[in-house]
Amino acid sequence: MLENFESISPTAIVTAYPRMFTDIPYEKEIYEWLSKNCNEEVKLDKFLAPEIEARYKLANKLLENYNITQVLELAAGYSSRGLIYSKKGYNYVEMDLENVSKNKVKLLNSIANIPDNLHIIGGNALNGEDYKKCEKYFNKDNEIAVINEGLLRYLTFEEKECVAKNLYNLLKKHGGVWITCDVTPKKFIEKQDQCLPNFNDNLNTVTSRNNLKDRFDDINHIKDFMKKIGFNNVEIHKFIEMKDELKSFEILNVEKNKYDELLENAIVAVISI
Ligand SMILES: C[S@@+](CC[C@H](N)C(=O)[O-])C[C@H]1O[C@@H](n2cnc3c(N)ncnc32)[C@H](O)[C@@H]1O
Repeated sequence: MLENFESISPTAIVTAYPRMFTDIPYEKEIYEWLSKNCNEEVKLDKFLAPEIEARYKLANKLLENYNITQVLELAAGYSSRGLIYSKKGYNYVEMDLENVSKNKVKLLNSIANIPDNLHIIGGNALNGEDYKKCEKYFNKDNEIAVINEGLLRYLTFEEKECVAKNLYNLLKKHGGVWITCDVTPKKFIEKQDQCLPNFNDNLNTVTSRNNLKDRFDDINHIKDFMKKIGFNNVEIHKFIEMKDELKSFEILNVEKNKYDELLENAIVAVISI
């Protein structure tokens, strides 16, 4: 079963690459390390940068709105967020599959000193026991913000339910919120196909788990799904909120309005009990 999830791991390179074409700190060093040390054959697309930059910056903005300084980032991949926020003083735990986490520790050691308040854990988001490895780093009296970018889209509904139940149990105990772009509905894929014609076809060559049938239909579907788990609040934010903060348009020399429809249809949800 775990091997099956590991087929998703190369997508972490697909999303790390476009972050080089933004002003997000450390991303150039991270991709340079990956290009030298990971021999994955993946098709890369720098024009994914506005979308990836928007979701990264929107999740940061929402995190900062909540003033919660303990974070569990699930499926963190090769993102710089944990390094940046731990340096700001956040108590930060990242969990990804064993191989990605091992790479992440090597990568971080090569570009910076890993702060004492940043913990990189190898674990499976579907396995309730693995959350215990993360919980031991959290202060029991403080709330937790869970962040994830790019995991649920690759999971079946049964698997999504398993991750959501684990997060429900964690947030029931500690309080806090779950911030995720990972519930973006089907309509977004149509817009992604229009803006980035080969992207989803290329992604299908990286992992067989990029299936339209595993997508939420619309916002009501997300809300119904979350309610059944026990999450009563689902607040929706659109990527377009970040349009004026995106540096990738200028770096890639693309027309700023070209991505409007895509950014209108992609969302980050803030989910709580
Ligand atoms: C598209 S990447 C996203 C990485 C990162 N969040 C980003 O935005 O660049 C998907 C990530 O999910 C991780 N992953 C896949 N299945 C997982 C599981 N069952 N538990 C934890 N992480 C998983 C992969 O290893 C990979 O790093």
